[in-house]
Amino acid sequence: MTPHVHVVRAPGRVNLIGEHIDYCGLSVLPMALRRSVRIQFHPRSDREMRLVNRDPRFAPSAFAVSESIPPAAAGDWGNYARAAAQALAQRFPDLRGVNALVESDLPIAAGLSSSSALLVAMALAMLHANGVSVASLELMDLLGRGERYVGTAGGGMDQAIILGARAGCASRIDFHPLRLTPTAVPAGWQFIVAWSLVHAEKSGAARQAYNERPRQCDEARRLVAARLGQREDITYPGLLGAASVEQLLELAGATLSGVLPRRFRHVVTEGTRVVQAEAAMAAGDLAAFARLLDASHQSLRDDYEVSHPELDRLVELAREAGAAGARLTGAGFGGSIVALCRVERAPEVVAALRERFYAPRGAADEVGRHVFMAEPSAGAEVMRT
Ligand code: GLA
Repeated sequence: MTPHVHVVRAPGRVNLIGEHIDYCGLSVLPMALRRSVRIQFHPRSDREMRLVNRDPRFAPSAFAVSESIPPAAAGDWGNYARAAAQALAQRFPDLRGVNALVESDLPIAAGLSSSSALLVAMALAMLHANGVSVASLELMDLLGRGERYVGTAGGGMDQAIILGARAGCASRIDFHPLRLTPTAVPAGWQFIVAWSLVHAEKSGAARQAYNERPRQCDEARRLVAARLGQREDITYPGLLGAASVEQLLELAGATLSGVLPRRFRHVVTEGTRVVQAEAAMAAGDLAAFARLLDASHQSLRDDYEVSHPELDRLVELAREAGAAGARLTGAGFGGSIVALCRVERAPEVVAALRERFYAPRGAADEVGRHVFMAEPSAGAEVMRT
């Protein structure tokens, strides 16, 4: 009898709206993509992990599962497997390792969570190989915290949507407690993802710029809370429950200095845009959803300062080409945009991006790789072949 081969598939994600606010405990609205990381795996009888990547840019990686795994060099792809293995080993002490063959059609460092998809896929492979099951919400939380192993102070959106997405839907993710609420993407809406050709290495240069943001948000929150006469540990959702957005912005203007008033303004206005966007999606109001995308981009560019000139240009061109709205998606500093248009408009938008963005940059022939239609897909799963 030939042994079954097990394959785990973990999709990438595109965040539709709610950017850089998951680590503030505010809700976000991403969906999973069809593009994914896939891992073929076999259980081992010892604690070794042996990883091979079909992509020749990534050298084989090996390490032993334990509660404290020494990291490989910063930026090494194997660190996402180490992050998964360490997080699981801390919860399940006797886990054995796997032999894993990794492949992916997700662009890397493009703001589409290829790294979290790798981490989630690796964790599912290990759990399955060890015959261990964990409730989905617990795993989302465990892996969200576990990814901090690589040095980014991420918020948990990526691991949650990669594990919990429903086909055909975007999901609102609430934190503390973690919860996913799907909303069907209306027929006739097309989300398009386009890469700016600028790599945003979460484990590289963008990491410092990323990690600075949660710290600034936290400082702003504490100062505004004190001014409001609230406890120092009140959360952002707590602040939004205690005062209106207008009151909070006025207080922030009077209390904060330097970049903090703008950081704070992004967080609280983006939080309200998520609520409005979910309602617009449920009502099939594409124009309203698109206006929120535009406002989100403006806020990320001007107040949060996580955009990049090439992202701004792509957003502008997508709109000129007939997209109803567009914005950067993911952590920013490079990476991709997401644009929304009616399905029948999509070919025109892609053609215009090809001619006006990719051709002048010598990348017209690769438009098929850089631009794709985002189809709302299901979350990660283990399959037996
Ligand atoms: C990265 C992080 C997420 C989130 C986004 C920005 O993808 O992993 O937790 O903070 O950036 O919205």
